[in-house]
Amino acid sequence: MNKAFKTLAPVLCAAALPLAAQASEVNVICSAQAAWCNMLAVTFEKSQGVKVNLALKGSGEAIAQIVAERANPKTDVWFGGTGDPHLQAAEQNLTLEYRSPTLPKLHDWAQKQAAQSGYRTVGIYSGPLGFGYNTELLARKKLAVPKTWADLLKPEYKGEIQSANPASSGTAYTMIATLVQLMGEDQAFEYLKKLHGNIAAYTRSGTGPIKAVARGEATVSISFVHDGPGEKAQGFPLDTVTPSDGTGAEVGSMSIVRGARNLDAAKKFYEWALTPSAQALGAATLQFQLPSHRDTQVDPRVPDFRKIKLINYDHAKYGQTAERRRLILRWEKDVNSLPR
Ligand code: F6P
Repeated sequence: MNKAFKTLAPVLCAAALPLAAQASEVNVICSAQAAWCNMLAVTFEKSQGVKVNLALKGSGEAIAQIVAERANPKTDVWFGGTGDPHLQAAEQNLTLEYRSPTLPKLHDWAQKQAAQSGYRTVGIYSGPLGFGYNTELLARKKLAVPKTWADLLKPEYKGEIQSANPASSGTAYTMIATLVQLMGEDQAFEYLKKLHGNIAAYTRSGTGPIKAVARGEATVSISFVHDGPGEKAQGFPLDTVTPSDGTGAEVGSMSIVRGARNLDAAKKFYEWALTPSAQALGAATLQFQLPSHRDTQVDPRVPDFRKIKLINYDHAKYGQTAERRRLILRWEKDVNSLPR
């Protein structure tokens, strides 16, 4: 087969399908990083002959869009982003119950995510929350690497830390839910108020802070640590650490929107995204979350969960609409309104 035909073959096969069965395009909101989302879209298009219309949105913005489109959904699949808002979408009947035949091949945490949503979402990756730090800036400012949540409150970190805003970012919501589970709610909010005094900026996107740290615009970030090795691989002086007093992990998820206009294409994309070869595109684009399919090759730069003190994060509770809304409102009122 010549090279041009090989590339075109899947497209031609799709073109030969009867019109009703033809899955020709799929609208995907992607809440992972752009490089990975674009690679997924291009590879799926090339290999499966289905055009992907991609919208890049953080987890909080994605759920807001899906809620807004409730009566007339324009999105077919929501790929990636933290699992809590996917559970929230499931609870609000915004996503479709779908049991993938691949489920038994996924890690337990990914299957659990599916089961607790009534099979309206599924885990596609996982990654722990921690801190990113700029090694050069820390050394220049003679600051120690923060090792615990309490360390971030030290006066020497004033104005040195970036976090994301929990209203738009699933990463920042994971931070709040993690602290509430670690400390109890009132103590967690006392902590967040003090932390606020040391924060230089809250970004819209969860990856904003670690990118700022990598580029020397901030010294420390509160981030998923799997986002560190990709920055390092680009030559930035960045390292990560997880707090020794315990931390939470996300279950990055994927859901099909209920009422999807391109349902066949949506299921095709969903199944394909769960395959080891599609999941390996994460590491190929320098994204180092732990993939959910047990047979996906794990890059050595993926954080080693066995070395991290993880809390038993209650995704079912913190993925509830009322809980997420309440905690974000409390953060806006009690924390974000305070002067810095
Ligand atoms: O794409 C990187 C990542 O850290 C994902 O692992 C995570 O699901 C997503 O960002 C969360 O983004 P945000 O905090 O902007 O919702």
